[in-house]
Amino acid sequence: MHYGHFKGYKTLPSFCCPRIVPYLCAPEMPSRFVISACFCMNSNRLRSLPHLLLALLLTFTGAQQASAQDASASTATVSQAGVTPGAAAAATPATAVAPAAGGGDAAAVQAGDALFKANCTQCHAVNEQVVGPALAGISKRRPITWIIPWVHNPAKVVASGDEYAVALYNKFQKQQMPSFAALSDKEITSIVAYITSQEGQPATAATGGVTAENAASADGKTAGASSSGPSSAVDILLIALVVVLIVMVVTLIIIGNLMKDVLRGRKDLDGRDVEVLEQRFDWGKLYRSPVLRGIVGVVFALVLLYEGVQSVMAVGLTQGYQPTQPIAFSHKLHAGENQINCAYCHTSVYKAKSANIPSANICMNCHSQIKTESPEIKKIYRAIERKQPVQWVRIHNLPDLAYFNHSQHTQVGGIQCQTCHGPIQNMEVVYQYSALTMGWCINCHRETPLNTKGNAYYDKLVKLHDTKNAGAPFTVSSNGGTECSKCHY
Ligand code: HEC
Ligand code: HEC
Ligand code: HEC
Ligand code: HEC
Ligand code: HEC
Ligand code: HEC
Repeated sequence: MHYGHFKGYKTLPSFCCPRIVPYLCAPEMPSRFVISACFCMNSNRLRSLPHLLLALLLTFTGAQQASAQDASASTATVSQAGVTPGAAAAATPATAVAPAAGGGDAAAVQAGDALFKANCTQCHAVNEQVVGPALAGISKRRPITWIIPWVHNPAKVVASGDEYAVALYNKFQKQQMPSFAALSDKEITSIVAYITSQEGQPATAATGGVTAENAASADGKTAGASSSGPSSAVDILLIALVVVLIVMVVTLIIIGNLMKDVLRGRKDLDGRDVEVLEQRFDWGKLYRSPVLRGIVGVVFALVLLYEGVQSVMAVGLTQGYQPTQPIAFSHKLHAGENQINCAYCHTSVYKAKSANIPSANICMNCHSQIKTESPEIKKIYRAIERKQPVQWVRIHNLPDLAYFNHSQHTQVGGIQCQTCHGPIQNMEVVYQYSALTMGWCINCHRETPLNTKGNAYYDKLVKLHDTKNAGAPFTVSSNGGTECSKCHY
């Protein structure tokens, strides 16, 4: 038998490399494998040695991929088990739970990270006070059985007369943290796990008065640390395998070239042999291949379509809009570092439909004394001399067809500015934080329970609602907050 007469080659797509493809495309791969092995035994036909090695390599890569998938699948199941709420984990003996909690802790921390960034960072940081308190140590300060109802509805916890909650509420000037009724217990537990992981303190902290929850979080921590062991071992193994593969490929190329050289020196090759020997990988054919062109064309069209849809959907959206203002006024400096109350400048925000932008007079309360030589402050003086207001560039702007009232939300609803405007107290230059779309308004109305405490207007309504839908929260939308006419004139 002669290698060059091996029929299979002819049926292959013309652009395929004849050296690799038999093992990928040929339907009867195992028999090819055996044949190459036989060739290999025959010292006259040494040139199939590279093929044999290649076949080994392909088999090896396949096996490795399969085992990697196995590994990730098993960690996934472990995390499922691990995310069970801390209380349950603590109730079962710690030894049995620890390994499972380990894998789960990493996943929970990751989930908590995303949830924390999406919902809490406007007002909270882990290690520093922002609008709300620093949350480091929360799992030691408060049991999870307190934290969950608190996050679901802080107003309710304060109203229930909970001593800790009332003291905290007063300490933070009666600012109302918004309710997160939509977060599940599991999600809140994962946020707490994330906070705990960010504290930067070793697990020994929890050895004191061990409550059930302390034990749970301590478990999570120690096991979490040990879980990084196995996963990094897998990483090292993978890296080692990759190195081995690279070495094998390089060796193969060298062997291949050596063989070619040997064969070129032989006189007894016929024309076909020489042809196979000198065949090169043909990029031109690959380029002309209709299949490849088709694939590239389809991918290109899909990307275009996606971008197109995205930009059409974004028409009229100004989220992130951050114009340059005529004076380099910094909210970070005033509302953040100097803690000037928002309503000191935006005087009408609790009383009226619109929040006003402060006039230059309000600036002068301080800047008739402070930084009088600064060129930025001199711009204020100039505006006053010319009797013209500072021309601030408007950032938030709903279309005229929509009605939005600040006092309804800040005063009556008790919603923090940051819930809608983001971390203003950290912004050097203000930008539009929320989308301000209709969907944004409506989603919040669907999810937010009404702040009905101490508001006689709602007393009867709440009773009516509760008798009709026992258990369901009395949200803005149950009060008609999603009716078109509430927001559209
Ligand atoms: C709009 C601002 C705001 C947002 C958003 C917010 N909080 Fe708060 N949070 C506060 C304030 C203010 C307090 C202090 C208590 C009070 O005044 O009601 C607080 C208190 C807390 C406390 C008690 C802290 C302690 O030291 O005992 C926890 C726990 C907490 N928040 C968790 C969260 C979590 C979790 C999220 C995200 C899902 C979140 N908060 C989002 C403003 C906010
Ligand atoms: C010292 C006065 C002052 C304080 C305090 C202050 N602001 Fe402002 N605010 C301004 C001025 C001036 C502008 C207009 C210039 C700009 O956009 O930076 C403004 C603009 C804004 C805008 C954008 C308005 C638009 O054009 O759409 C928002 C939102 C806002 N402030 C929210 C807040 C919040 C929330 C706080 C409290 C955390 C606060 N401000 C505290 C003076 C103040
Ligand atoms: C309650 C007092 C107060 C009010 C009101 C106030 N500022 Fe300031 N402002 C400060 C303080 C304090 C600083 C920081 C001064 C320093 O860095 O030493 C400052 C700094 C500044 C600076 C930076 C100056 C520089 O060159 O470093 C600008 C610009 C400024 N304010 C603009 C305004 C404008 C515009 C208003 C009115 C919308 C305003 N401020 C209202 C207290 C105030
Ligand atoms: C429920 C969401 C929400 C809350 C809470 C909220 N705002 Fe606004 N804010 C808006 C929207 C929406 C606009 C745009 C209004 C418009 O264009 O008519 C806006 C606009 C503004 C403006 C520009 C002037 C205006 O009225 O158009 C300022 C300033 C402002 N907000 C400050 C504040 C301050 C300060 C607080 C907290 C005391 C606050 N906002 C709380 C949603 C909110
Ligand atoms: C962060 C949550 C939140 C967002 C975002 C929000 N709202 Fe509201 N809205 C409330 C709450 C809470 C109330 C109920 C206040 C109350 O009366 O106790 C309310 C009430 C209202 C009401 C009165 C409803 C009634 O039944 O009388 C109108 C109108 C309204 N919102 C319009 C808007 C518009 C327009 C937007 C978007 C530009 C918006 N809201 C965005 C929370 C929100
Ligand atoms: C909670 C407040 C709210 C309610 C309830 C509401 N809308 Fe809207 N709607 C808005 C806001 C805010 C906008 C402007 C959004 C924007 O500019 O992207 C808007 C925009 C629209 C637009 C688009 C107008 C345009 O020119 O793009 C239509 C149409 C509309 N609403 C119809 C309705 C209908 C019909 C209902 C009742 C089923 C309804 N809305 C209920 C707040 C509301």
